[in-house]
Amino acid sequence: MPRHFTTIHDLSNDEIEAVFRRADRYLEALGTSTNGHRLTGRVADADGRILATIFFEPSTRTRLSFESAMTRLGGSCVSSADAASSSASKGESIADTVRVIESYADVLVIRSPWEGAARVAADFAGVPVINAGDGGHEHPTQTLCDLYTLRREHKTLANASVLLCGDLKHGRTIHSLIYALARFGATIIPLAADGLGLPQHVRRRLREEFDVHGVPVDSDGDVPVDVVYQQPDRDHQLSLVPDVGDAAKPALKNYLEQVDVCYVTRSQKERQDGDTGGRYPRIDKEFLGRDAFRDSRIMHPLPRVTELGYDLDADARAVYFKQAAYGVPVRMALLAALLDEGFGNARPHADASVDPGRYACTNNRCVTNADSERGHIRQRFDLAGRDFPLLRCGYCEHELRPAIVALRGSQSIDANLENWRDADRSDLIFFESLEDAARAGYRAVGT
Ligand code: NCD
Repeated sequence: MPRHFTTIHDLSNDEIEAVFRRADRYLEALGTSTNGHRLTGRVADADGRILATIFFEPSTRTRLSFESAMTRLGGSCVSSADAASSSASKGESIADTVRVIESYADVLVIRSPWEGAARVAADFAGVPVINAGDGGHEHPTQTLCDLYTLRREHKTLANASVLLCGDLKHGRTIHSLIYALARFGATIIPLAADGLGLPQHVRRRLREEFDVHGVPVDSDGDVPVDVVYQQPDRDHQLSLVPDVGDAAKPALKNYLEQVDVCYVTRSQKERQDGDTGGRYPRIDKEFLGRDAFRDSRIMHPLPRVTELGYDLDADARAVYFKQAAYGVPVRMALLAALLDEGFGNARPHADASVDPGRYACTNNRCVTNADSERGHIRQRFDLAGRDFPLLRCGYCEHELRPAIVALRGSQSIDANLENWRDADRSDLIFFESLEDAARAGYRAVGT
């Protein structure tokens, strides 16, 4: 079974470290003497292998750095870089596209506007599939580049304090990065634009499944932009203001005392449905003039628009072009690892772990709701939630809260919600209402 990389959770921390050690070796072997993060020449680690890049959304860095990486590994590339010129425009499903292209290549890299698309591709491909961005869900290879940059600049990921700025709601780079930062023990300070805070399911997961360190500032868990942009007449004034609330002030002050990384992202306009218009953090020399940023590194997955000043390009703290350059050795290392049969066994992915009954994913950007996929891929959900059961979509990872939990074996409704956690997952079934459950022959007990 091939190894895939569809979410950041497909690699363990040790495996990520192993990829980074390999990237170090490529940098050493191929780095130019004048500019160490730029590579030249090639090795033969993927000699004769072919990479297919399938991009249904625009890309500059991700696609070109993957293709450069495969070329420098001694392999070659075939590319479908424009959705309009591929059969997807005729309504072809991801499953069929992948089943065809897997016979043309040894590894597939896919980008799609549909959340969970790479997971669908992985289900149908007999070769490794890599997610190059699926809607607003994740962009795990960008996260590898981000972590690698952070590791080279800051030396350690544990305890690094990272300010995440911008559109935290739709930014897929943010979603994979934030889980990775949590897994490696970094401190996360979310500075969201107005109305563009972290999605509810990401927040819940960080809180309940990862030992996350964060600033419990407002009800959304984000540092309000107003804390940073204190006075309308003096924009870019970072200081603590009275309206943060007394309880939160000491925590915020602590966290903002020294920021190791300021990770800036653009407003993801292509995925916003009118939920913008508020204040958007703009990071420039003035913003970074505060003491807390003296030794910070400024990172950005690029492209930048107006959220990151050009006045920073010559600043020694700016590492975003280096971060983009590391895309080649990091993606070389990932490709080589996934093509290496000895890399390790496939990690079990959330797979039909519970029967959702008639529930379907409610995220309209989920690949299960795409016209081309709806008819042939089945809904599948994992069980999540600490205090109450949640159905997590096995593709886009959005969560929904079922109304009724029932136990199949005893045909009973778990009215007190006491048994769901200990129950055998295959015994659980979910209903949208009591009437639905009764119609299916389930009866309430324990009320
Ligand atoms: C990012 C993306 O596509 O999500 N770009 C990239 O791959 N480096 C970030 C963005 O588009 O804002």
